[in-house]
Amino acid sequence: MDSENLNGEKADADAIIHQAAKQLEKGEVVAFPTETVYGLGADATNPHAIENIFRIKQRPPDHPLIVHIQGPEDLPIWSSKVCNAAYALAERFWPGPLTLILPESRAHPSITGGQTSVGLRTPRHPVALKLLKSFGRGIAAPSANRFGRISPTRADHVRAEFGNVIDLILEGGDCEVGLESTILSLVSDRPTILRPGTLTRQELEDFLKTPIESATPTQGLRASGLLESHYAPSTPLRLVSRDELLHLKPKNPQKTVVMRLGRPSQPSPMFEVPMPENSRDYGKALYATLRQLDQRRFEQMLVETPPAEEEWIAVLDRLTRASHESMNGAEPTHSRKVIR
Ligand code: TXA
Ligand code: MG
Repeated sequence: MDSENLNGEKADADAIIHQAAKQLEKGEVVAFPTETVYGLGADATNPHAIENIFRIKQRPPDHPLIVHIQGPEDLPIWSSKVCNAAYALAERFWPGPLTLILPESRAHPSITGGQTSVGLRTPRHPVALKLLKSFGRGIAAPSANRFGRISPTRADHVRAEFGNVIDLILEGGDCEVGLESTILSLVSDRPTILRPGTLTRQELEDFLKTPIESATPTQGLRASGLLESHYAPSTPLRLVSRDELLHLKPKNPQKTVVMRLGRPSQPSPMFEVPMPENSRDYGKALYATLRQLDQRRFEQMLVETPPAEEEWIAVLDRLTRASHESMNGAEPTHSRKVIR
């Protein structure tokens, strides 16, 4: 491609971002790519715009949104109690897949779901960063999926879910990480991971040089990523060990899909999908694979349980939540069209 074309494309891309910023200013909702998943963005200082997000996403009003900001220097705009650890973490890991929960929120209560804390992050995707810069204020954004469904990792996923109801979807290719950010709460004395992500507890502990706790859903924190059944496809999904896979004889093998780590060693009557054997590539591919398979209306999805290792925790967390309903004997959701 010659440089004139490249310049032309750059001008187009800048014009679209400028347009997106103008739409945000008008209180409209704009979907944009981040390195983790696509977000459904609105002006974080405009309660009506925030209301639009909750309405479009069909999210209960007490589930707080993350405010996306330009960098550590914006932290005091959103919290009146920014500790040194927050600054240090933001300097080290932003832009990147880390959300910090800080006490003494200065955000509008509709963003925080009435809580006194606020979630903040600076995403790493160039389109998100340009949009934040062009807009100049914070952008409140949940993942761009209906409540309880799988997060989108491509603009097409957002289009399929919201194409006719949102004002603009910025294109940013496949998300580089593919799983939502690690959420770290700095609200109490003990830093606590509320949602695991590709940035692991070990990496955060090594940096902070202090032990970090992990929240369990029973601790009553209102983070929708902490609901047991979340990130769910409609097809019943079950986690199975490699050993179990070897001996499995489903009634309808051609209606069963298996997501296996690596390639199968022998032919199988089931529909086999080989998944990457390293956790980063697996995380990047997971949601797109689940969406694609979900459309094919298999009777069940069997997913080989990933290794019980630190680097797989985020993937295992999402798979466990995706499998929750079916593992508890509930009906498949095809017919129920449950939207949480
Ligand atoms: O990677 C990500 O974090 C993506 C991209 C778009 O940035 N965003 C995302 O947003 O996953 P969402 O709303 O789908 O998930 C954010 C989670 C929710 O479970 C929410 O309840 C929790 O963060 N959260 C936000 N503010 C919180 C707070 N003050 N206290 C506890 N949890 C909070
Ligand atoms: Mg979400």
